[in-house]
Amino acid sequence: MQNVMAEQQAYSDNSLLLDAREQNVPRGVVTAHPLVIERAKGSEVWDVEGNRYLDFVGGIGVLNVGHNHPTVVNAVTRQLGMVSHACFQVVAYPGYITLAQRLNKLVGGDDACKSVFFTSGAEAVENAVKIARAHTQRPGIIAFEGAFHGRTLLGVTLTGMSAPYKQNFGPFHGDIYRLPFPNPLHGISEVDCLKALDQLFAVQILPERVAAILIEPVQGDGGFLPAGPAFMQALIASLRSTAFC
Ligand SMILES: Cc1ncc(COP(=O)(O)O)c(C=O)c1O
Repeated sequence: MQNVMAEQQAYSDNSLLLDAREQNVPRGVVTAHPLVIERAKGSEVWDVEGNRYLDFVGGIGVLNVGHNHPTVVNAVTRQLGMVSHACFQVVAYPGYITLAQRLNKLVGGDDACKSVFFTSGAEAVENAVKIARAHTQRPGIIAFEGAFHGRTLLGVTLTGMSAPYKQNFGPFHGDIYRLPFPNPLHGISEVDCLKALDQLFAVQILPERVAAILIEPVQGDGGFLPAGPAFMQALIASLRSTAFC
């Protein structure tokens, strides 16, 4: 009885659980806030001690409809009741195909387009690089300063921030080239970035050796910086004037 009570107390105390986390989970996975949450709803979370908080983070911007939205809960529950996992490489299932159809329509409009799904952002980025290299038969990949592309080795190679992501993990992948990202706070204009592209093609890699350019339309970890439609269009125009396209 005493053991059960001690266990119950341990699971309803932030600091006891965080001590257990310290001993059992590596410090490489940081936890920014000293809270252990038990449940969530919409834009609110409750910790194991029953304290209620407004969630300004939303799983780092991925919970666009909030926590436990009934439509999402119903869809997940329904799917689990039908097929929980099949592995698309083994047998197809309708959700994969219809999601691809919807995305292709959204992204490609009337152009023919295809989609493939992966488990994480880093895996998607890695595969995008593989596909670009295989399709173009070129090695070079251009990424931006301040970029975040994931925690796998190619992900951190592409990431444009030394701390904390790249410390002690080298040597990194080859044939990755870096451009500045527009950042008015640091005095880096869109024109500076376009000049840097010309310079990169002049001194580091010919445009016809570049397979892909990876850019976040809005950098998150890099400082919540938008690239802006005008810059994106100018970048595409610059690339179209070279042998990259
Ligand atoms: C732009 C970008 N690329 C890649 C990733 C990596 O995603 P994951 O953590 O799912 O591997 C993230 C994650 O925040 C991201 O914001």
